[in-house]
Amino acid sequence: MLRGKKILLGITGGIAAYKAVDLASRLTKSGAIVKTIMTNNACEFVKPITFKSITHQPVITKMFNEEADIEHISLADWADLLVIAPATANIIGKVASGIADDLLSTTIMAITSPVFFIPAMNINMFNNSIVQKNITKLTDLGYLFMEPEIGMLACGYEGKGRYPDNKEIFYYISAYISYKQDLVGKNILVTAGANQEKIDPMRFITNYSSGKMGLAIARAAHIRGANVKLVYAGVSDKVPEYLDSIEAYSAEEMHQVVSKEYEAADITIMTAAVADYTPKTYSKQKIKKTDNFKLELNRTNDILKELGDNRTNGQILVGFAAESNDIVENAIVKLNEKNLDFICANDLKVSGKDETCITVISKDSQKKYDGEKFEVAHKILDTIIKKAE
Ligand SMILES: Cc1cc2nc3c(=O)[nH]c(=O)nc-3n(C[C@H](O)[C@H](O)[C@H](O)COP(=O)(O)O)c2cc1C
Repeated sequence: MLRGKKILLGITGGIAAYKAVDLASRLTKSGAIVKTIMTNNACEFVKPITFKSITHQPVITKMFNEEADIEHISLADWADLLVIAPATANIIGKVASGIADDLLSTTIMAITSPVFFIPAMNINMFNNSIVQKNITKLTDLGYLFMEPEIGMLACGYEGKGRYPDNKEIFYYISAYISYKQDLVGKNILVTAGANQEKIDPMRFITNYSSGKMGLAIARAAHIRGANVKLVYAGVSDKVPEYLDSIEAYSAEEMHQVVSKEYEAADITIMTAAVADYTPKTYSKQKIKKTDNFKLELNRTNDILKELGDNRTNGQILVGFAAESNDIVENAIVKLNEKNLDFICANDLKVSGKDETCITVISKDSQKKYDGEKFEVAHKILDTIIKKAE
C-alpha cells in the first residue's frame, strides 16, 4: 500500500523515540521512501545513524546547512505525509502557537501535505489542559492525531500517554494515504470473533474463528473516518483501544447487543462466528468426569437471519460464510435465506491467518480478493460502499 510513497518522519525528544526506529523499518519495508528529521532533543535519545541505517535515506538534524538547499521548504514540498512519532508536548505546543524555531517545526509550517501527530508523554502532561487545548486546536485545523494508549508509562505512572503499537500506526498511515477519510458520517456495526458457550466454570464450547477479519474491517472503517461500533467475542489479537467496542462472550449476549445497536447502523458487517448451539444447562460447579457424559445442546438465535428479516430502508447487511466445501454455492444459499446484500465467502482454512482469500457475493455480482486481511478489508468496504452510494 505504501510503495513509492514519500514519508517524512519527524522524531522529537520523548522516551519513545527509540520505538520510532521500528516504525521507520516497517514503512521502509513496505516500499515507502522515508526521510527523517530529528530535533536536537530527539538526538539525546537515539542517534541519527540508526534511522539512516534503517531507511537508507538522509536524516536531517540541522536547520542551517550550507551545503543543502533550503531544506525546510524542499522537504515540505517532497513529502506526501509528515508523521511525527513520538510527538512531544513541546512540538504540539509549538505548532499550535505558530512557532517555527527549528527544522521540524519550520517544516511543519511550510508543508501542505497532511501532518500526523503520535503524541506520547507522561499522563499528567497529556491531561494538562494546555496540551489538550493545543490538540483540539490542531485537530480543528485539520492536523491528524492518533490517541496514545493506556498502560504502564516509562516514567512509572500508569495511564493514558503511551506510544501506540507501531502496527497500529502503520495501519493508520497506509489507510490514510490510500483512502483519506472517505467514510466520515457512516455508522458501521461490525461483529468479530468466536462465541464462548459455557458448560461449567471451567469449560466452554467455541470455534476456530480468530476475529482477525472482523478487527481488520473495524480498524479499516475507523481509520477511513466511519463511526464504528465493534461487538466482539473471543479474539486472538488485541482489540485496538481507539475502537468503540463491546465484549459479548456468548451468542445470546451478542444477540442482545447487536439487536440494540442495529437500528443506528447504516452498514452491519457480521464477521463473528456466532455459536449455533449452546449447552441446555449451565452447571455452577465443575462437572466431574464420567464415562458416559452427554451434553445436551439448544439452538441459539440466528442473529443474521433476524437482522435480515428486520431491515429498515437503505440499511446494508453483510454476512460472512466460512465453509469447508462448496464455498461459493453454500454462501449463495445463505445470502438468499438471510436476506443479505452481500455475503463474504471464505475457506475455513484461513481462520487464524493474517492473509485471506474472500469472494464477495451479491445477488448480481461476485468479486474475489486475496491478500493481507487489512488490505482485503478495504476492498470489502469499497464494494459495500459502492452499493450505499
Ligand atoms: C528522560 C526524558 C524523557 C522525556 N520524555 C518525554 C516524553 O515522553 N514526552 C514528552 O512530551 N516530553 C518528554 N520529555 C521532555 C522533552 O524532552 C522536552 O520537552 C523537550 O524540550 C522536547 O523537545 P523537542 O520537542 O524539540 O524534541 C522527556 C525528557 C527527558 C529528560
